Amino acid sequence: MTEPFDAVDVIRTKRDGGALSPAQIDWVIDAYTRGAVAEEQMSALAMAIFLNGMDRAEIARWTQAMIASGERMDFSGLSRPTADKHSTGGVGDKITLPLAPLVAVFDVAVPQLSGRGLGHTGGTLDKLEAVPGWRAALSNEEILAQLDDVGAVICAAGSGLAPADKKLYALRDTTATVEAIPLIASSIMSKKIAEGTDSLVLDVKVGSGAFMKDRDRAGELARTMVELGTDAGVRTVALLTDMSTPLGLTVGNALEVRESVEVLAGGGPSDVVDLTVALAREMLDAAGRPDADPAAALRDGRAMDVWRRMIAAQGGDPDAALPVARHTEDVLAEADGVLTTLDAYAVGVASWRLGAGRARKEDPVQAVAGIELHAKPGDEVRAGQPLLTLHTDTPERFARAREALAGAVVVTAPGELDGFAARERTVVLERVAG
Ligand code: URA
Repeated sequence: MTEPFDAVDVIRTKRDGGALSPAQIDWVIDAYTRGAVAEEQMSALAMAIFLNGMDRAEIARWTQAMIASGERMDFSGLSRPTADKHSTGGVGDKITLPLAPLVAVFDVAVPQLSGRGLGHTGGTLDKLEAVPGWRAALSNEEILAQLDDVGAVICAAGSGLAPADKKLYALRDTTATVEAIPLIASSIMSKKIAEGTDSLVLDVKVGSGAFMKDRDRAGELARTMVELGTDAGVRTVALLTDMSTPLGLTVGNALEVRESVEVLAGGGPSDVVDLTVALAREMLDAAGRPDADPAAALRDGRAMDVWRRMIAAQGGDPDAALPVARHTEDVLAEADGVLTTLDAYAVGVASWRLGAGRARKEDPVQAVAGIELHAKPGDEVRAGQPLLTLHTDTPERFARAREALAGAVVVTAPGELDGFAARERTVVLERVAG
């Protein structure tokens, strides 16, 4: 086959700060998916995009080309509206687990096509696989049947959805080109638009544990994704939420499932409950259910009922005991004072080193590994009190996990608290709508 463009010319255009034409974009995505553009050429192009950016028209076309690389799902045959949530990834971010069944209580179908963790952020599928018997891989027919019956499904995105993104994401991960706004926005939105949801709520994380460390860049990412969704006919809203410290009191697969079940039972840490309810309200509003009361459905057990049916429908046993680590070690407070820093990124890396995450996508994860938090920023602590408990089945990992935590836990003496705002529990920082 004769190719209409030369990959080197496309790379040179972007390297020199030019805009790619629609035809160049369509070709380069298609040719890369079929293997006619080599990995080293795409990695050079990704780096040129990282350095020189893309304008709005380029990002929209790039997203469309990635959608066109695969299949589109169709939920239009369902009797209820669909709403989905996507998080840009954080530490202790288990929100999908209570959120999907919670929104389904109100007769909204929630198709959560999710991924696995890579690097310091956890993956929803890895978390749910801690539930004995639970199965992540479903066919499109099984997804539709479960949405019809239970209303919520959390499962692996099939290989047919935006295959160009799957290839490109793996390449970006190994070439330091993940944190580029055009590439993140097109990656996330191509999958969500191809999935065919009616409405989408984006949870854009800001802070040390997020891809976007600063608020301005996170805001730009949120606005870019909201525009892409809105232009594609998907009702899209984004919340900018805090990821400077982990969400909740657990990080790691089985530990996060345990905490999610506490939230579904009407308890759980307030930041997890608040964010779950805030995202549920946005999804329910977008799906035409503005009067729904998600907080009540957590308290009265309706969300728990849907959770149990959702887990059972995928072979999981909602009553089975979750696995527990064979080894634990505590990290103690060194002095009396107030916990002023508990850095999300460091806790994520430590949890990963304990075995909760993977370095390569084919690595296994330990369901039991992770970290329990006994205090959050703003809490008063006493010298010798456990601040964290590290969990793993492989105790030789403790030393490296402790190294990751060096400098990440700061206790400040009461007299030296100048500049530390008293306990600030606001998780939602800003709302971005189309
Ligand atoms: N999540 C994605 O799906 N893609 C990105 O590029 C970053 C986060």
